[in-house]
Amino acid sequence: MKWAGGKGSLSKIILPIVRTHLRNRYIEPFAGSAAIFFRLSPNAAILGDLNPHLMRLFSAIKSDPEGVSQALDRIRQRASGLNGKAFAAFYYSLRDDFPKKKRSENAALLLFLNQHCWNGLYRVNQTGEFNTPIGSYQSLRTMPSLQSLSAASEALQRASLQLADFEVVASMAKPGDFVYFDPPYAPTSQTARFTSYSATQFTWLDQVRLKRVLYDLTDRKISFLLSNSATQTMINLYKDFVQTTVSAARSINSVGSKRRGFVELLVSNFEIDSAEHSLFQFKEVP
Ligand SMILES: C[S@@+](CC[C@H](N)C(=O)[O-])C[C@H]1O[C@@H](n2cnc3c(N)ncnc32)[C@H](O)[C@@H]1O
Repeated sequence: MKWAGGKGSLSKIILPIVRTHLRNRYIEPFAGSAAIFFRLSPNAAILGDLNPHLMRLFSAIKSDPEGVSQALDRIRQRASGLNGKAFAAFYYSLRDDFPKKKRSENAALLLFLNQHCWNGLYRVNQTGEFNTPIGSYQSLRTMPSLQSLSAASEALQRASLQLADFEVVASMAKPGDFVYFDPPYAPTSQTARFTSYSATQFTWLDQVRLKRVLYDLTDRKISFLLSNSATQTMINLYKDFVQTTVSAARSINSVGSKRRGFVELLVSNFEIDSAEHSLFQFKEVP
């Protein structure tokens, strides 16, 4: 899936760090598309997110990959031969159907919408209805095969799925577990106000609440890694922890050419050995 702040592009940096410190369960309280989880495929995990449709999608793939695949096949059949305006009308009719169908069909609808909406953005209106417009697609794109849904299902068998706030999920961690936090980004400028993944906003109070969770994990000797944009505000907020900055591609930006070259802040309660991760270029915050 595409996801705002999806960590596909940073996975080469994050994965080796997680592998070095993971002893027991891998815990991701802001799972989103769970890009790191699926690449890591850990023996035991907890995935949490406050987006109910996303967690239902994971749950449907976990328990019924064939049912989701069959529902995707039905969408493929209906979309066959549709182009341009006819395809756009088809997109909006499926958007109207979401999430009003049974579970496996809603899962397929969300996969379809995610692949064809503008930038993979999950955006809802005041009443919680998905309202992202179609992206610049004229016809059906490739959607997940039964093989990839089955592989995702297999990985999800070892994960407990939690539709819960990050504080609840982080409180489940025990020594030996590793917690990776990828919260909604703090805006980097007046125009970059994208924090609305669900009907509720991730506020500054949530950022501060998150910092308290980091102190609690540190007191309980549980390793964590957090990523966020390397703004001065975030650098100040997390000044008590180890900070490492890396350059990263950001997946959501309305101007395509501005998508590259963001500096990402990694916060941890352990030293990140840049020599150990010498494959990657660590850059100073400008
Ligand atoms: C930056 S995205 C995570 C992206 C993810 N790392 C990926 O690879 O796709 C942040 C996620 O946090 C979720 N979220 C927002 N507020 C939350 C909260 N209070 N507790 C748990 N999850 C929350 C959003 O629904 C969103 O999926």
